[in-house]
Amino acid sequence: MKTILVTGGAGFIGSEFARQAVRKGHAVMVLDSLTYAGDRKRLEETAGRLEFIEADICSTGLEDIFKEKRIDYIAHFAAESHVDRSILDPSVFIETNVKGTSQLLNMARKFGVERFLYVSTDEVYGDLPEEGQFIETTPFNPSSPYSASKAAADLLVKSYHRTYGMSVVTARPSNNYGPWQYPEKLIPVIIYKALRNERIPVYGKGLNVREWLYVEDCAAGVFEILQRGRPGQEYNIGSGQERRNIDVVKGVIKIMGKPEGLIEFIKDRPGHDFRYSLNADKIKNELGWRAVTGFEDGLERTVRWYLDNMVWVEEKMGYLKDYWEKVYGGVTI
Ligand code: NAD
Ligand code: TYD
Repeated sequence: MKTILVTGGAGFIGSEFARQAVRKGHAVMVLDSLTYAGDRKRLEETAGRLEFIEADICSTGLEDIFKEKRIDYIAHFAAESHVDRSILDPSVFIETNVKGTSQLLNMARKFGVERFLYVSTDEVYGDLPEEGQFIETTPFNPSSPYSASKAAADLLVKSYHRTYGMSVVTARPSNNYGPWQYPEKLIPVIIYKALRNERIPVYGKGLNVREWLYVEDCAAGVFEILQRGRPGQEYNIGSGQERRNIDVVKGVIKIMGKPEGLIEFIKDRPGHDFRYSLNADKIKNELGWRAVTGFEDGLERTVRWYLDNMVWVEEKMGYLKDYWEKVYGGVTI
């Protein structure tokens, strides 16, 4: 059993990974600075079974943590993760996603960490037309400050393998959904608005396509890559379940028994990627991982979870409402 440092482990995907790692019997340390997106409630299930360290991956104090703790593996999830926020203000994305990752790599190198896993994204590849898929060697072509910052760090991680011989591996998952996702992302936004009979903001005509991956499947894939991925290699994590945004919205509305009249098409996101689609043959063939959750099943489970946990969502609203004013550009919703 290994000691795993999970950065961003109070976030949506990192917390699911931490829960799985604890269940598997690993010694888990979560390192998280608890930004607006972080919340220790996501870790309540693991109470007393993991160590929580409140720290910023950009801070100079990071070295003291590495001096004090023995860390075998790092699973690096910590990031600013929301495209729309990166459009409003890219600066913190460069700080956390690029400089923070750089500092963490330096710590891993200095303190002889056995394995460094970076959670990248399919967004590093840019977007696709109606046809085609991304493979791991598709050249990068990021569109937003978010995806550009993730791509920069992705390249930096690879360079530490080539230059210093470090055992790094990279995961590139598609869009995740499921319980505990911060309610700024599409699916929880739809659920929240629909529940309150408020208008549901859909960018453009809602024809953009995303490949939806249930968070439990994603975390399981990350685990396989951490344990058995080949050093210096990248692995796409895709579910093969592509849906147009408008169909996702209609799917949620149907589950909730709400009218489609709630949908409001609003001004498109600048630089909006049209379609993502991952070829996941590498992780399937080399590591035997595949997504097990069908989209319709995962969506039902997700809607049910949010309806049962609306108190948690409501807690976020004081902060979110100001942000929504800015991001939806004066559109009354
Ligand atoms: P999230 O926004 O829910 O969580 C990010 C976590 O990182 C939060 O707990 C936050 O407090 C923490 N954090 C942010 N800045 C930090 C800093 N400077 N120091 C320490 N902790 C910090 O994000 P998520 O959706 O769980 O995504 C996790 C990772 O997966 C990210 O790297 C993201 O780029 C990547 N990813 C996400 C998706 C998706 O659909 N959500 C898809 C592909 C890749
Ligand atoms: P999002 O959840 O922000 O993830 P990403 O931008 O990383 O793919 O958005 C998913 C899709 O939904 C994307 O095409 C943008 C669209 N979208 C809306 O139409 N309305 C919204 O309010 C949000 C948040 C997203």
